[in-house]
Amino acid sequence: MTEEIKILAIESSCDETAASVVRNGREVLSNVISSQIALHTLYGGVVPEIASRKHIERINQVIEEALKEADTSLSEIDAIAVTYGPGLVGALLVGVAQAKALAYGAGKPLVGVHHIEGHISANYIENPELEPPFLCLVVSGGHTHLVNVLDYGKYEILGRTRDDAAGEAFDKVARAIGLGYPGGPKIEKKAKEGNPFAIPFPRAKVADNVYDFSFSGLKSAVLNYINACKMKGETYSEADIAASFQQAVSDVLVEHAMEAVREQKATKFAIAGGVASNQTLRSAFEKACEKEGVQFYHPSPIFCTDNAAMIGVAGYYEYMAGTRSGLDLNAIPNLKLGER
Ligand code: KG4
Ligand code: ZN
Repeated sequence: MTEEIKILAIESSCDETAASVVRNGREVLSNVISSQIALHTLYGGVVPEIASRKHIERINQVIEEALKEADTSLSEIDAIAVTYGPGLVGALLVGVAQAKALAYGAGKPLVGVHHIEGHISANYIENPELEPPFLCLVVSGGHTHLVNVLDYGKYEILGRTRDDAAGEAFDKVARAIGLGYPGGPKIEKKAKEGNPFAIPFPRAKVADNVYDFSFSGLKSAVLNYINACKMKGETYSEADIAASFQQAVSDVLVEHAMEAVREQKATKFAIAGGVASNQTLRSAFEKACEKEGVQFYHPSPIFCTDNAAMIGVAGYYEYMAGTRSGLDLNAIPNLKLGER
């Protein structure tokens, strides 16, 4: 029988306080998420100071619940994994301090995990056959990265956004049409009543790198469209704007990603991050991957948005590769993928 490795993972980089226990890198024994979304909705977006305070209030209980749900205790845990960047510095610090205290108190190894590596690793949870190499598009509130996953823990960034992240564009457009925070799920819902081809919003290309993205022009086009309607005294359909915007984002993401699939001769393609829970986007990728003859992977929505299970999976592979963090581990708000 092979040895069983249990990782306790902690995630607090933005507005979710989360803890999870993951067995042997692929099996999620518990996945506890305490979301602050309702609170931040009052302010139209995440308020960093409030996020940090809420993490402090919730983190002990969330970790206790995760251990209890997994029917285990700290003494049976092999290592503690924690997101140490990128993210909001005050929010990250709460998780990092908690993980260090637990690791020190219980005498367990500590493993700092990159948040984006966590998002990518979410794909391993429900796809036991998935192994690197594969291409992965990470689309979240803070990141839009096209990544060549060379091996566990080994990444080559092929493309990234030059301005807004895809999720950020969803959030800004949602605010402009009065849907509120968080924009992604609200746009997706509104778009169901609209025509995705009603308004020809631009599909931006970045001249010097076919894999890079730019969403600020699209966001401005939506704002200009709304302003032009208002100035002419014309009404506009929020549903058509939502549907046409969503279609434009989806078209750009799919086109750039499939370009990479062809050029890199990839046989497997995955999506990850909060925006990857969007059904229109998933269907578009499913179709495109089928056309290109590549296997398509995506996590369930609960593993797309921020969670600690994905950190537990990434933490397991880092732990097995020998990665250990010291008690001087610090939160790094702008941590780059592949850096330690
Ligand atoms: O991965 P995530 O939970 O946090 C970050 O690491 O940023 O992503 C959050 C982002 C937000 O911008 C949110 O609006 C977007 O993901 N999002 C969606 C959907 N659900 C969440 N975007 C489009 N469609 C969705 N269904
Ligand atoms: Zn995230």
